[in-house]
Amino acid sequence: MGARLGRNLQSRTVTESPITTLPSEPAAPEGVAHPKAIKSYVLRAGRTTAGQSRALQELGPRYLLDFRPQPLDAAAVFGRQAPLILEIGFGMGEATAHIAQVRPGDNFLCCEVHEPGVGALLKRIGEQHIDNIRIVRHDAVQVLEQMLPPASLDGVHIFFPDPWHKTRHHKRRLIQPPLVALLASRLKPGGYLHCATDWQPYAEQMLQVLSAEPLLANTAPDYAPRPGYRPLTKFENRGLRLGHGVWDLVFRRAEAG
Ligand SMILES: C[S@@+](CC[C@H](N)C(=O)[O-])C[C@H]1O[C@@H](n2cnc3c(N)ncnc32)[C@H](O)[C@@H]1O
Repeated sequence: MGARLGRNLQSRTVTESPITTLPSEPAAPEGVAHPKAIKSYVLRAGRTTAGQSRALQELGPRYLLDFRPQPLDAAAVFGRQAPLILEIGFGMGEATAHIAQVRPGDNFLCCEVHEPGVGALLKRIGEQHIDNIRIVRHDAVQVLEQMLPPASLDGVHIFFPDPWHKTRHHKRRLIQPPLVALLASRLKPGGYLHCATDWQPYAEQMLQVLSAEPLLANTAPDYAPRPGYRPLTKFENRGLRLGHGVWDLVFRRAEAG
């Protein structure tokens, strides 16, 4: 299994950092997943293509939202009242664009820090005439803390978050108890959190951490069947052909009272 997992990791190198040494980090206080200095990402100097740059220039003003440390007026920025789904780390936006089209009745607020990815999703928005996505090019943890009030989200998508497979980098993983508690607080009662990963040790961590969050309940005995809206992306198809695994987890915030 170990060798298989090793290849699994290689299969996602496009959106993963090739960096082997990271900036020096202060130790995290106990129980704090993402203190200011420890990020779940490292900004890479990826190349933004001409098409992505054009999309950033032409479509950015309509679909990009500035990070502001104040509550977001979702109805105003989407131009309508609709269920609000947050996506954290959309990479190149392949799944994001697909889901926005198969769920036209929902509004998708999508966070990514990587410029070529933001350009790539804007390009898809333009080519596929998608209007129910808005993008914040900023750390999603700060967006959650400062722009999204408690009980404001109907769903959260976190697909293939960086596995940070070296033990000394595990503190950068997104799915840790404090972030999950923050996510649960931002979900409305009945809202869902959907995570997916192709890295089994991270899947096991996700299952443990999500199961331990008192506000959340698993919708499945452990891992969930892939919900129909989440497409099999190019990477995933290739991984599956090679015999690699993918694990989906879908939890819900308990209904009030
Ligand atoms: C491994 S990639 C997966 C991308 C995509 N979801 C997919 O399935 O291909 C993880 C992405 O999450 C982004 N990311 C990590 N931490 C983030 C954060 N705190 N806020 C916004 N984006 C983040 C990274 O820049 C990276 O593009």
